[in-house]
Amino acid sequence: MTAKWIALGLSLAIPVVAETVWLDTLDLSTLRQGWGRPQINRSIRERPLQIAGRTFERGVGTHAQSRFRLHLDGQVDRFRAWVGVDDHAQGPGSVEFQILGDDRWLFRSGVMRPGDAAREVNVDLRGVRVLLLRVTDGGDGISYDHANWAEARFEVRGSPPRPEPVPEEKPYLLTPPPGPAPRICGPTVYGARPARPFLYRIPVQGERPLHFRVYGLPRGLHVDPRTGIVSGTTPAGAGTYDLTFEVRNRHGVAWRSFRLILGDRLALTPPMGWNPWYAHYDRITDSIVREAAEILVRSGLADVGYQYVNLDDCWMNAEQHGDPLRVGPLRGPAGRILPNAHFPDMRALTDFIHARGLKAGIYASPGPRTCAGFAGSFGFEARDARQFAEWGFDFLKYDWCSYSEVARTNPGSELEKLQQPYRQMGRLLREQPRDIVFNLCQYGMGEVWKWGAEVGGHAWRTGGDLGFELDQLFEVALRNIALREHQRPGAWNDPDYIQIGWIGDARSAGPPRPCPLTPTEQYAFLSLWALMAAPLFYSGDLTRLDVFTLNVLANPEVIDINQDPLGLCARLVRQDEATFVLAKPLQNGDVAVGLCNAGECAATVAVQWTEIPELRLVQRPGAGEPGARQLVRLRTRAPVVRDVWRHQDLGRFPGGFSARVPRRGVMLLRVSPPG
Ligand code: GAL
Repeated sequence: MTAKWIALGLSLAIPVVAETVWLDTLDLSTLRQGWGRPQINRSIRERPLQIAGRTFERGVGTHAQSRFRLHLDGQVDRFRAWVGVDDHAQGPGSVEFQILGDDRWLFRSGVMRPGDAAREVNVDLRGVRVLLLRVTDGGDGISYDHANWAEARFEVRGSPPRPEPVPEEKPYLLTPPPGPAPRICGPTVYGARPARPFLYRIPVQGERPLHFRVYGLPRGLHVDPRTGIVSGTTPAGAGTYDLTFEVRNRHGVAWRSFRLILGDRLALTPPMGWNPWYAHYDRITDSIVREAAEILVRSGLADVGYQYVNLDDCWMNAEQHGDPLRVGPLRGPAGRILPNAHFPDMRALTDFIHARGLKAGIYASPGPRTCAGFAGSFGFEARDARQFAEWGFDFLKYDWCSYSEVARTNPGSELEKLQQPYRQMGRLLREQPRDIVFNLCQYGMGEVWKWGAEVGGHAWRTGGDLGFELDQLFEVALRNIALREHQRPGAWNDPDYIQIGWIGDARSAGPPRPCPLTPTEQYAFLSLWALMAAPLFYSGDLTRLDVFTLNVLANPEVIDINQDPLGLCARLVRQDEATFVLAKPLQNGDVAVGLCNAGECAATVAVQWTEIPELRLVQRPGAGEPGARQLVRLRTRAPVVRDVWRHQDLGRFPGGFSARVPRRGVMLLRVSPPG
């Protein structure tokens, strides 16, 4: 029944009785969830819906993290349901059911576990336009999080709820195109070990040809004046070298200081580069990787600092695989690990990458098999570490995968079992005659952020694969930010790769397609990763890099925030239902500020400068000062606010700043204290 009123006779009208629309009758194809598919009138395990012994005839069985966005047009009166963890979960899951209407909390179940009695939901939806039915993981990951919306139904007066995953949004460009004059980008501090091979391509935007000079280079290092690639062997002793880069072209000259610290620390700013996983999965080949290196240079991504060209899983052989070229002996004579037939010559591959001034990364697992079932390093760790160095790799991602089988039989405490393989590989990498950045990947087990650096890691994943949680971008960022105190230069929390542009669906390891995020969310992705000082690895299909994606990835002012030498992760300044404010102090005294809107509707997000003591604003004018002078002084003492994406100063703002931020967007600011 669509009409609100039915006219009886000439003038008499009575309200229509609300109609019941069951959740299980809606089109569930836009319901996103962390595992499996939504089930109608049965649980995610395809059994009758059952919560604490009570069976329900109808409803929707889903799995955390789950998110169903519905448009109500203000024509729905009420939502009723019974919620809880399904009895057939057979594991220690925990979830929270949440309902938001126009970004206001309408219902929170609190954390629910298997065996908890079903909780009744009965919420008033009058006037609500956008409804979000959400199931979170209860804070402990999504395992066994089988969540039932039982007997879930709407009381509707007009048109029924309309599923709408994301509002339509056209791509738009925020980053201004680079000018013709040289602009030097990338980090201003860099760590390397003494007496090792050195390679660094100075990232510079501007019209080619460029001419490079470097002042203050230690002996053993030299710069190619045409390409800006600094190479050679670092001096034998520890020490700090303050270099100046100078780059000229016919439009001008640019300088940038660069501190080279020779010692035992690497990755003094978050590593940046490309990783193939979310685009190419088990389809990765030598030629895809070479092409990626070429595109990084040709597209200008290398000119803003992307420098690692990495491999992920599936470069080795497997015992079984659909692609016969990936099947073969796992190891050769003396236990030498064998690349599969798609990788004919690893040394030639790293030479190709290095010739462009870029760095090469490789992937392995401490277990007998990698996560995709390829050869692991278990029992051959020293052999493999040596091999990776001989091949010329500069980065290793070491992924736990099947190591649980081994850990079970290891002596020691649970924590020691988690640490052991990483401690071993950390030591082995340090023994190699080249610098190899060590990236731990074990999904945050045992609070890895507390000990990742101690076992030799330079970065560690803080959670599971972000590919399964893309629609939880803001929530993932907030979780990562809660760990901010555990990161510092050379030791980074890693919330996983940048997945914008063309990426595959992690659930099916499918071929690259346009990613499900709106353009605003894609800008938000980079804003959040910059504010967190997270490693910046683009994990999309570089052959499909379009103008929009490049615009999001290659904003030098955004990257400067990410690469700031203090290496601080932003602090949560304030948070309400849907919005929050982040602040990241920078080395020059400025503060990067993120006005974040994680909600479904546009919102005004405000910050007061008093909430950011890091800005070190000078005291207010003295009590006895005449009014006019007070005014002048207040104005000139107001901080300057810059829109980082647009490269525009917005003016001086006394007191604070506020802006309208679109649905699931971040306004990224650089705030400079008054001079
Ligand atoms: C996962 C890891 C991913 C990817 C994949 C390869 O465990 O988190 O980033 O490396 O394995 O199989």
